[in-house]
Amino acid sequence: MSEAVLSVEGLGVRIAGRQVLDGVDFSIAPGEFTGLIGANGAGKTTLFRAILGLQAAGQGRILVDGRPRTRRTDSLGYVPQKFLLDPDLPLRGRDLVGLGLDARKLGFTVNRRRKRDLVEEMLAAVGAEAFADTRVGRLSGGEQQRILIAHALISGPRLLLADEPLANLDLRSSGEVVALLARVCRERGVAVLISAHEINPLLPVMDRIVYLAGGRAASGTSEEVIRPDVLSRLYGHHVDVIDVHGRVLIVAGAGPDADLQGCEETVDHTLPGGASDLGGSIDPEKSEARGVGR
Ligand SMILES: Nc1ncnc2c1ncn2[C@@H]1O[C@H](COP(=O)(O)OP(=O)(O)OP(=O)(O)O)[C@@H](O)[C@H]1O
Ligand SMILES: [Mg+2]
Repeated sequence: MSEAVLSVEGLGVRIAGRQVLDGVDFSIAPGEFTGLIGANGAGKTTLFRAILGLQAAGQGRILVDGRPRTRRTDSLGYVPQKFLLDPDLPLRGRDLVGLGLDARKLGFTVNRRRKRDLVEEMLAAVGAEAFADTRVGRLSGGEQQRILIAHALISGPRLLLADEPLANLDLRSSGEVVALLARVCRERGVAVLISAHEINPLLPVMDRIVYLAGGRAASGTSEEVIRPDVLSRLYGHHVDVIDVHGRVLIVAGAGPDADLQGCEETVDHTLPGGASDLGGSIDPEKSEARGVGR
């Protein structure tokens, strides 16, 4: 296998006296689609910030393309979780995409014509031509995500980090953004690490999963990780994995502390007649007992 585009080795992050991440280990191969799954507060954004060098790691190390990250590392593209834009900000979608290039090519002059062509190529790649001239703050959530993905892609990263790009999107837009990221991964060979608290929309496209709970991580294929034994070990108590009409429901604990991964989505969005909109069934009984992590 070619060298990992990202290796996270024994990562520990402590914030305000609390161990937010503890011994997190996983790696991402070039062109691989990885889902980073965890409940609110599990540490997903903290992990992204550590990978980007915005959050100091107390323990362990992070390698990008086999080397420690430096200021010059340009193989990472980032779509942040929080991106609030004033509707009146005079910045069109295409302007924001172009800024992705400017931000990366610090000090380098990019030929204006070349830049215009690149912006057009990115807008086409994410299907954003129709609203490229609208002010970004006035775009819908799904449209903004497309622009932000193009912004992150224009500098040609080898790994795209997308922090909860599906949050606040309806089921249809969420499916479209997942399909777009999967296509970017497949056709452009860009590895993707996407965080979400709901696993079901990602099941059909994920090569691997990094599941965060209690600051620790389990990683592997979905079949290796989404299993009662693996998740029970991770949570430190019994966890059930239930297949509800082709959608996975992870029930971690009971009573007021219950952590129901996927529960809301399963209940809200399962189609009439029990059909699953995006598929992605896992039968833990049928999956082989294999090692987790690499
Ligand atoms: N700068 C900070 N100061 C204090 N606590 C912080 C800080 N940054 C993160 N935390 C805490 O670390 C934990 C993990 O936060 P993080 O934002 O990484 O979670 P998350 O998985 O991204 O959650 P969400 O799904 O809500 O976005 C939370 O309990 C949060 O309150
Ligand atoms: Mg977050």
